[in-house]
Amino acid sequence: MLDIIEGLPQGKALDILQSASILGFNSCLTGTNNYRDTANSEVVVITSGAGRKPGMSRDELLKTNVTIISEVTRNVVDHSPDGIIIMVTNPVDAMTYLALKVSGFPRSRVLGLSGVLDSARLSGFIASETGAPASEVSALVLGEHGQNMVIIPRLATVKGRPLTEILPQEAINRLVERTINGGAEIVGLLKTGSAFYTPSAAAACMVEAIVLDKKKIMPCAAYLQGEYGIKDTVIGVPVKLGKNGIEQIIELALTDDEKKALQSSAEVGRGLIDSMRLS
Ligand code: LAC
Repeated sequence: MLDIIEGLPQGKALDILQSASILGFNSCLTGTNNYRDTANSEVVVITSGAGRKPGMSRDELLKTNVTIISEVTRNVVDHSPDGIIIMVTNPVDAMTYLALKVSGFPRSRVLGLSGVLDSARLSGFIASETGAPASEVSALVLGEHGQNMVIIPRLATVKGRPLTEILPQEAINRLVERTINGGAEIVGLLKTGSAFYTPSAAAACMVEAIVLDKKKIMPCAAYLQGEYGIKDTVIGVPVKLGKNGIEQIIELALTDDEKKALQSSAEVGRGLIDSMRLS
C-alpha cells in the first residue's frame, strides 16, 4: 500500500495485517511512501486523488485528479512496466483513459472499477426489495460510472427469474434511480468521505479474477475500439478478466434502445475526455 502521506499506508497496512489470524489470511502486507517498494507489481490498484464532498459530482474532481493520476501512472510505469492497472479514482472512465494514454500500456492492461460496484449496489437494492438473498440476485450495469450509467432491468434476475416479471415498473424505476445515486447517497450521509466497503470489495474481486486467472466476465471500464459502435472512449462493458487483464470485450446482444443508451453514455464520457485536452 502506497501513499504520499508519511505513516498513513504503514499504519493502515499494520491495522489490516493484524486482522490476519481472525480473518484467516496469510498475505504479506507492506505500507510505504516509496514506489521502489512496489516494483514489479502484477496488478496496481490506483485510488489516489481527491474524493467527492456532499453535493459534488464525480466529474467535478476531473481537474485535480488529472495531475495526480498522471504522476501516479508515470511512477507505476517506471516501477511496474508489466503491471495491470485497475483505476478507482473518479471520474473513473476519464481517469482510466488518462492512465491508458500516459502509460502507453495496451488496453488489456488498463481498466477501471465501475460496473462491478454499480451492479452490486443494484443487486443489494433488489435483494432488499424482494427479500431474496443478495447472493441469488444478478444484475448488470454498463456505461459510464456516473449519472449516465446504463441499467438494463431485463438482464437482472432473482434466482434466475427476470426482475421484470417480479417487480412492477414503478419499483424497478425507484431501484434504478437509487443505484444511479448510490455513491452520492453515501457521500451525503458520511459528509467527509465516500463509500469504502463495496468499492474495495469490488476492486478486490477484479484483482482476484486477474491474479487467479479466473476468466470471469465482469462489467468494467474498458477502452473501446469500435465495440458497440463506440470508439476511442472508456466506458463500462462486460469483459473477460484473466491473468492478462482484459482478455475479451463481450458484446452483448442489446436492443436498439439499449445500444443507443450506451452510446449516449459514451458521448458524455467522451466529453469529459475531451475536456482533459490530452495531446
Ligand atoms: C462510488 C465511488 C467509488 O461510487 O465512485 O462510491
